[in-house]
Amino acid sequence: MKSVVTGVAGFIGSHLAEELLEMGHQVVGIDAFTEFYPRQMKESNLFTIQNNNKFRLIEGRLQDLNLERVLSGADYIFHLAAQAGVRTSWGESFSDYVDNNIIATQVLLESSKKLHLKKLVYASSSSVYGDVDELPMSEDMRLCPISPYGVTKLAGERLSSVYHKSYRVPVVILRYFTVYGPRQRPDMAFYRFLRAAIDGDTMVIYGDGSQTRDFTYVSDAVRATLAAAEQGKPGRVYNIGGGNRISLKNALAVIKRVSGEKLKVKWDDFHRGDMRHTYADTTRAQRELNFAPQVDLEAGLKQQYQWMLSDFKGIEGD
Ligand SMILES: NC(=O)c1ccc[n+]([C@@H]2O[C@H](COP(=O)([O-])OP(=O)(O)OC[C@H]3O[C@@H](n4cnc5c(N)ncnc54)[C@H](O)[C@@H]3O)[C@@H](O)[C@H]2O)c1
Repeated sequence: MKSVVTGVAGFIGSHLAEELLEMGHQVVGIDAFTEFYPRQMKESNLFTIQNNNKFRLIEGRLQDLNLERVLSGADYIFHLAAQAGVRTSWGESFSDYVDNNIIATQVLLESSKKLHLKKLVYASSSSVYGDVDELPMSEDMRLCPISPYGVTKLAGERLSSVYHKSYRVPVVILRYFTVYGPRQRPDMAFYRFLRAAIDGDTMVIYGDGSQTRDFTYVSDAVRATLAAAEQGKPGRVYNIGGGNRISLKNALAVIKRVSGEKLKVKWDDFHRGDMRHTYADTTRAQRELNFAPQVDLEAGLKQQYQWMLSDFKGIEGD
């Protein structure tokens, strides 16, 4: 089997590539090493697989590569490359979101038309929902993103649906709900909180802490992604949530327990574009993908904490 993973040097993509190699796939990984966070972190994400002879890394932007050549013979494509991050999607940097989330997706879909793919999995986000009246969020709800990032992820979904309908590209869309664990991006809340706890710094929390998130441990997200490739129905959308919905205030209590540190917290205003609550209805993923998250928040945070203490120590100071 040949799998292509876009965004392979990123947080989720690197875990996914590891799993695919374990399963015996040949993996072609594409990554542009964008400057959103340090290249060194992304290189260290690839540390365990870089010398695997079934793995090939292609560095470049999807928009610039000769995709016909790169994708040739692929059975599966996992499209995780994106400009992530809600808060930075306002203002001038929006053009990065358009380029890497909309144009890159369209280019990839266009190049996939002629392939004989078994599946193309598109990594979307709970951000496409926006603030909803009713929880949990189910796939058929009205979508009303409240951040520019969410708008671009939704555009990627729509493009995926269009290429599925018109060209039978077998796209399955996954809406991940806040993924965490080792290798988490440094702009994400748990990374920032744990970093501050470790360094004895003050952590800045936006809002009053009553906002809730459905947190998904990275191995659960990866398992769901592999199941989507195997069993997902082309054209379908699946929520992937960890079943760990918790308020930020309560998450801080878990971080305090896990780190054993006293936390110094500074409260700041809500950020525009941040959703009040996220909560995934995963009935469809349970039924059609046999998805059942296995890692609870405390166990998952312990793993992330250990990673931040050991593997990654030192890199940031460079
Ligand atoms: N982490 C989460 O909680 C979360 C939640 C919802 C959705 N998602 C989605 O999951 C995917 C992976 O997220 P992540 O947290 O691992 O992000 P990440 O930033 O760690 O990984 C994305 C990778 O894509 C690469 N990239 C960006 N634009 C590219 C381009 N044009 N061509 C080639 N490579 C490019 C980046 O260099 C980066 O290494 C993204 O599509 C994101 O929108 C993530």
